[in-house]
Amino acid sequence: ASTASASNIVEHSFFVQNLTINRLCNRQVITAVNGSLPGPTIRVQEGDTLIVHVYNKSPYNLTIHWHGVFQKLSPWADGPNMVTQCPIRPGSKYTYKFKITEQEGTLWWHAHVSWLRATVYGALIIRPREGQTYPFAKPYREWWNANVIDVENQALAVGGAPNLSDAYTINGWPGDLYPCSQNQTYKLNVEPGKTYLLRIINAALNNQLFYKIANHNLTVVAVDASYTTPYATDVVVAAPGQTVDVLLTANQPVGSYYMAARPYMSLGGNIPFDNTTTRGLVVYNGAPSSATPLMPTLPAFNDTPTAHKFYTNLTGLVGAPHWNPVPLKVDYNMFVTIGLGLEVCPPNVPNTTCQGPIPGISRFAASMNNESFVLPTSLSMLQAHFFNVGGVFTTDFPANPLIQFDYTNASINSNLPLLFVTKGTKVTKLKFNSTVEIVLQNTAILGIENHPMHLHGFDFHVLAQGFGNFNASTDRQKFNLINPQSRNTIGVPVGGWAVIRFVANNPGVWIMHCHLDVHLPWGLATAFVVENGPTPATTLPPPPADLPQC
Ligand code: C2O
Repeated sequence: ASTASASNIVEHSFFVQNLTINRLCNRQVITAVNGSLPGPTIRVQEGDTLIVHVYNKSPYNLTIHWHGVFQKLSPWADGPNMVTQCPIRPGSKYTYKFKITEQEGTLWWHAHVSWLRATVYGALIIRPREGQTYPFAKPYREWWNANVIDVENQALAVGGAPNLSDAYTINGWPGDLYPCSQNQTYKLNVEPGKTYLLRIINAALNNQLFYKIANHNLTVVAVDASYTTPYATDVVVAAPGQTVDVLLTANQPVGSYYMAARPYMSLGGNIPFDNTTTRGLVVYNGAPSSATPLMPTLPAFNDTPTAHKFYTNLTGLVGAPHWNPVPLKVDYNMFVTIGLGLEVCPPNVPNTTCQGPIPGISRFAASMNNESFVLPTSLSMLQAHFFNVGGVFTTDFPANPLIQFDYTNASINSNLPLLFVTKGTKVTKLKFNSTVEIVLQNTAILGIENHPMHLHGFDFHVLAQGFGNFNASTDRQKFNLINPQSRNTIGVPVGGWAVIRFVANNPGVWIMHCHLDVHLPWGLATAFVVENGPTPATTLPPPPADLPQC
């Protein structure tokens, strides 16, 4: 179903439908693309136009998002449900068409409605243009891995989530530590002495993951499709939504080695979580089949020093293809608290499904600056913006939290007002080409994890990150304005903060949200409406004729 031609148009058809698979001793029905899990890997070169015809043959509403693709002047193809489009109804189709420019590396695509992305996802690999090379020695071969959790238990307080298996997977395979999975172990064959480019995608719904290969060092060369200064490490950490490209050199004695992944849960341990391990194999050509593979020692689930070291040691590769210097003049300064909170149970929700600390009375919600984001239902935000239809969103998202707190004192009692959210569809309007700086402060009063904040439509520079309260006078001194890493998803540390900066050079409506799957429906999101620029080339085009209507 795929053709790559000299005219630089890459075309795919996605048939999205139910698929029966055998996993973890059970037959399960999942929703998948073209009968495979993960779905098809899309390979393009920078500058190509990608056309994907999506046929929704599943019983669910569907949209597809191209995670990390800028979608410059093609916001109608971005995909988040009710933000840039109404869903593709069962039995309908929509064609996503967009050009991929000014970026290269590893990205991915996934469903962007309800819980479907658990099984509706795949890799999107952007290679350099013809005649261009990587800013590192050409690897012998390229592979990719995706670490995926197959299920989210009780993902939504109000039903709807499928009850699938309970495992992490590598390229869809759980690996031999899980029951009935002896033959469902991903295997990578390597030639001794050669160097491989591994593309690691954390497609898990709700967990950051540590990833390691026994006895091998890895060299990180890119994250989120932005080149990094080569960074040698024995362990990789990725938050949901993030990608990490690493070089692996088969420089160890001929044999077999496990690659393994399991969660990083920062403050985990207070509540139960799936702390199982998925593993696959790296097998050297010529290794005796009787060899017992070596197993890597993964960090403990709460090894924050190891995770923090990895996240903060990465720097951008100045001068690499698509590197952009940090804009020094800031037009909009925002201080945004992110975290979990509570809302009073809505009257129409049965008590039994209204879960939270006080069942039947309040349930979990999530917010940014105490605002819990609600998706519109009648019209997508982008249509409302383009056609000037009022009543769909308001432009009064607060640039600062309503209440100031001591985030080092993460106790529920002393911070009770912060827990209760107000609900709405509030956005920030941005002038074309303005520079935005956001201090993201993770309140961590409820909840135990970093929030992986993902921004659609842009990459941002990560200027600094740390623990405790962000201190404007001292922490600004620590900003890296020279070679910070560039990302589309940042894991904001639990009880800590991160500062990001981006240029709003892309007209449209762009959601920013936590990539833990449960937190988006809970409202941990906001959106930016970027106005048109002064020229036709910086003005939103009208929607394609087949854009799904509500
Ligand atoms: Cu990868 Cu809005 O998502």
